[in-house]
Amino acid sequence: MDCYDSREFSISNYCIENEILHNLTLELNTTCNLDCIHCYIPEKTNHGLGTQTILDIVDQANDMGVLNVILTGGEIFLRSDLLAIISYIRKKYMRVFLITNGTLLNLDIIEQLQALSIAELGISLYSTNRSIHDQITTKVGSYDETVFAIKSALRKGLRVAIKTAVMTTNSRYIPELKVFCDEHGIEPELACFITSKNNRDHSPRRFQVTDRHDMLSFLMCTLNKRSFLKELRGRDLESNPCSYCKNSLYIDSNGNVFPCNSFLVKVGNVLEDSLRAIWEGSAVLKAIQATKYSDIEGCPECSLAPYCSFCPGFSYLEYNDYLFCSDEHKSYIQCRKDYHNLILEGII
Ligand SMILES: C[S@@+](CC[C@H](N)C(=O)[O-])C[C@H]1O[C@@H](n2cnc3c(N)ncnc32)[C@H](O)[C@@H]1O
Ligand code: SF4
Ligand code: SF4
Repeated sequence: MDCYDSREFSISNYCIENEILHNLTLELNTTCNLDCIHCYIPEKTNHGLGTQTILDIVDQANDMGVLNVILTGGEIFLRSDLLAIISYIRKKYMRVFLITNGTLLNLDIIEQLQALSIAELGISLYSTNRSIHDQITTKVGSYDETVFAIKSALRKGLRVAIKTAVMTTNSRYIPELKVFCDEHGIEPELACFITSKNNRDHSPRRFQVTDRHDMLSFLMCTLNKRSFLKELRGRDLESNPCSYCKNSLYIDSNGNVFPCNSFLVKVGNVLEDSLRAIWEGSAVLKAIQATKYSDIEGCPECSLAPYCSFCPGFSYLEYNDYLFCSDEHKSYIQCRKDYHNLILEGII
């Protein structure tokens, strides 16, 4: 069985096929100690749901068989109850993934995270160039704090993921970031789409890389040739463009529930209904889960279909229609096709 086969038979795919809730992302707050230039959070003032409400959601998730709990913010380490929340989730044997800017971590906290056996510490790092990183976070000294957290966590044996939003401001420094990650045995998670803020303020979009040559370089830097080719083989017009909506949910700091933190169509609120009632009963969620590529206007006859990787959430946020395929999306998919041609021609 090669690695493609093992992906095919993964628990995650089983849950997608059977619409079983597998991943739950909780936004614990929107408050933050940084003010990044591209941040999608409009107002960083919400301290999040109370501890007991969070623990109750964790209980519900556990009863439903959720395996992975992803904690994000805002900045989660601003919450004084964070370690207690993690400990509670771990006692239920669910896996904990954290997303943080890393600046508030110290050795004592890192040791506690190690003792709690978290599955992954995800830290946002924008460049190995100190001034570029600090320019993005708008805090001088943040680079040193974040890199200290990364190196200390690695020394303690934690699994660290580096998360990098690739923008016009840092795109040319990505090769150096990859070298840093290689040296530390980490695979960087690079994301090239910069979304509007959650309230549809489009200002972060000015940092989006749009140049075709830069986008192709980005794909060459990030895509794994073998899995890309296998992904193309599996493209099917009757498939859902976003399979995660069939095994994942996201809950924001007000208890509102969405398919994911990039797909902001509200499907319920945990302060009004149970998680199970939302997962099993939300008509809006059912409609999203039933979406197919063929529902998108133009898909059946589109020559780019074999290369397509459509994010309905992005279309919803940017164009208020999760079934709308924009010219911007088409030009991104054209780059994926160009990348494929370079492979076929043996150039890369
Ligand atoms: C909102 S932050 C929350 C967690 C933590 N404060 C951090 O920065 O890692 C989660 C991730 O979203 C990314 N992000 C923020 N605004 C974005 C945007 N407009 N488009 C794409 N990614 C964005 C950040 O770079 C970060 O990696
Ligand atoms: S650290 Fe995270 S939440 Fe805070 S401003 Fe930056 S991207 Fe936004
Ligand atoms: S590029 Fe647009 S029209 Fe073409 S397959 Fe993708 S979503 Fe459909």
